[in-house]
Amino acid sequence: MATWIRNGRLADTITGVFEEKDLIIEGKRIEKIIPRGQFSEGGESLDIIEADGMLVLPGLIDMHVHLREPGEEYKETIQTGCLAAVAGGFTAVACMPNTIPPNDCRSVTEFILEQAMRAGLARVYPIAAITMGRKGTVMAEFGDLKAAGAVGLSDDGSPVADSGIMRCALEYSRYYDLKVISHCEDLRLSEGGVMHEGEISTRIGLPGIPSAAEEVMVHRDICLSELTGCPVHIAHVSSAGSVELIRRAKDKGLPVTAETTPHYLTLDHSSVIGYDTSAKVNPPLRTREDVEAVRKGLAEGVIDVIVTDHAPHSSLEKELEFDKAASGMIGLQSALPLVLSLVDEGCLSLSRAVQKMTIAPARVLGVEGGHLREGSPADVTIVDTDARYVFSRDMILSKSRNTPFLGREMKGIAHLTMIGGRVVWQRKASHPGS
Ligand code: DOR
Ligand code: ZN
Repeated sequence: MATWIRNGRLADTITGVFEEKDLIIEGKRIEKIIPRGQFSEGGESLDIIEADGMLVLPGLIDMHVHLREPGEEYKETIQTGCLAAVAGGFTAVACMPNTIPPNDCRSVTEFILEQAMRAGLARVYPIAAITMGRKGTVMAEFGDLKAAGAVGLSDDGSPVADSGIMRCALEYSRYYDLKVISHCEDLRLSEGGVMHEGEISTRIGLPGIPSAAEEVMVHRDICLSELTGCPVHIAHVSSAGSVELIRRAKDKGLPVTAETTPHYLTLDHSSVIGYDTSAKVNPPLRTREDVEAVRKGLAEGVIDVIVTDHAPHSSLEKELEFDKAASGMIGLQSALPLVLSLVDEGCLSLSRAVQKMTIAPARVLGVEGGHLREGSPADVTIVDTDARYVFSRDMILSKSRNTPFLGREMKGIAHLTMIGGRVVWQRKASHPGS
């Protein structure tokens, strides 16, 4: 039976225009896109999805999440992570390889894909490790990993400290058409630090991580991209200096792309004043000036993609003294409303925001999706931009609850998420904002 999504405002992520158009979905694909009011039902029976007053977007794509499986299933599983993803409006997630064991070989990549298939929720794209064990010394088998289904390479959680290895990785990755996603951190500069190094770290007596720990490596990777002519994608940009370096690299025409997260766009280091470990992330939340610079970089196209860096941790790793707690926060269910609030504040246009969560990540990773087109898979997210609610613990579908956004007033929510023509998430009448 065909499905008719009607009366919504459809986002064309190529032109950046919203149009009053309906979608007809037949099986797994978009059969037709037609102007509102021009479709007549005929004799056939149809499933009707009413999107009146809502946005109809290509399924959101998050190219940076941690699903913790294999190895740390008490924090998250592929199933729970995917459930949080679809509830947050994401139809696809790319998962980082810092699992136990790390995704540095074919069997782990295949296991992740099998578990994703079993979960039957979001599409899962494995990112494989650049180096064996993510130890930074011996390169992984890129060809094997690609054949098994990996779509990118990263040692995320750790940098590739050895510049010679990074150079080789960039050169080999191009051969296999796998994007290298770089976690930029100079470990000698960040050593011992637990928050941003600045006025607040001095005041509350916590050891700091200077912005330079990130920027030195952003600069190195840009130099290596220039040396090799190979693309590099900079993960979780948090500082004004990094934005400036990437801006200059792009001005030179280098194949550098970058991402940031809703938390670097929203929070600064003052969130740490109460020693709230849910605000402990790596790289750390920085100053208000950094937040403003990252916002500007996003609006001006220096930063291409918005990701969550969804990093679940249990209370065992978080309910500790600040310096002993793990870094990371969950983000799959708070990303969309936080980005919509940036739009409301005038930081960037709605169409730009949508592009950075759809077509931009699809292009960086070279995967399908990100655009609603006749004949393409019916991955669709319907967003109710007017829904107002307080982000609360009982909404969280992730196994972990480590987020500093609990209790925050939110506006906008995923109303319905469809993957390959199948509705995998629908907001219930009892849900907040309904
Ligand atoms: O805060 C972080 N958490 N930063 C990382 O780079 C890794 C991540 C994790 O895996 O928990
Ligand atoms: Zn990460």
